[in-house]
Amino acid sequence: MEEMKDKVAFITGGSKGIGYGIAQALGSKGMKVAITGRNKQDLDSAVKTLSKETGATFLGLPTDVRQYQELQEAVDKVVEQWGQLDVVVANAGVGIFAPIDELSVEDWQQTIDTNLSGVFYTVKASLEALKKSQGYLFTISSLAGTNFFANGSAYNASKFGVTGFTQAVMLDLRHYGIKVSTIMPGSVATYFNNHTPSSEDDWKIQKEDLGQMVVDLLEMNPRTLPSKVEVRPTQPPKK
Ligand SMILES: NC(=O)c1ccc[n+]([C@@H]2O[C@H](COP(=O)([O-])OP(=O)(O)OC[C@H]3O[C@@H](n4cnc5c(N)ncnc54)[C@H](OP(=O)(O)O)[C@@H]3O)[C@@H](O)[C@H]2O)c1
Repeated sequence: MEEMKDKVAFITGGSKGIGYGIAQALGSKGMKVAITGRNKQDLDSAVKTLSKETGATFLGLPTDVRQYQELQEAVDKVVEQWGQLDVVVANAGVGIFAPIDELSVEDWQQTIDTNLSGVFYTVKASLEALKKSQGYLFTISSLAGTNFFANGSAYNASKFGVTGFTQAVMLDLRHYGIKVSTIMPGSVATYFNNHTPSSEDDWKIQKEDLGQMVVDLLEMNPRTLPSKVEVRPTQPPKK
C-alpha cells in the first residue's frame, strides 16, 4: 500500500488486546479505523483513548462476529461513512482450554463460531469492498494453528481452520489484486483467556509489536506477499 494516510480499516475485536494494538498502529499512520466488539462500553472507551493517542478518526461498532448479518451491517456502515474499505483484520477470538472429556458442547460452539465462522463471516461481509479497493485482508490465527497441544482441541481446531481457510482464500483473491496474510502469534500480553496483562508479561510479544508488523506488511512491495507469518517471543522464560 503506497500511501496509508486516509485509507480505511475494519478490525474485529479492536476494543483490547491485539486488535487494539493494530488499530493504534494504523491510526498513527493516518488511517481511519473502525473497530468492533460485543461490549459497547469497552468499545467507546477504546475509541476515546485511541483518538487521543493518535489524533486519528475511529469508529466503534458493537458487533458480534458470530452473527453474519451484524457484520454485514457494520461493514456497510463503514463504506457508507468513509466511502471505501482498504484493510480488513479478522482478529476477534476467544480461548477456551479443557481436556476433551471436560469440554462442553457450548465451549466447542463458542470457540468455532467465534474463531472460525467469525473469520469467514468477516471475509464474506467485506469481500465486495476489498475487490473495489484491491485492499489487504489479514486474519489472526495462532501458533496453535500449526502446533497442537493437550487441552487445546477446540482452540486448535479453530486455529488450524483459520490457517487453512486463509491460505485458500489467498489463492482465490490474489487474482483480484487483494493481498491476504495470516499472522500466527505465540504468547501475546493481552486479556485473552481472562488474563490481565502485567509486568510479568514483559517477555511476551506486546500488542504494539503486532501493530508494527501489520504496518510493515502493508508497506511491503506490492509484488511480494508474506502469506503466512509465524511470530513468537524471542526469549520465553526458562523452565
Ligand atoms: N493473546 C495471545 O497470546 C494470542 C496468541 C495467538 C493468537 N491470538 C489471537 O488473537 C486474537 C485476539 O485475541 P487477544 O489476545 O487480543 O484477546 P483479548 O485481549 O481478549 O481481545 C479479544 C477481542 O475480541 C473481542 N471479541 C471476542 N469475542 C467476540 C465476538 N464474538 N464478537 C466480536 N468481538 C469479540 C473482544 O471484545 P468483546 O469481549 O467486547 O467482544 C476483544 O476486543 C484472537 O483471535 C486470539 O485467538 C492471541
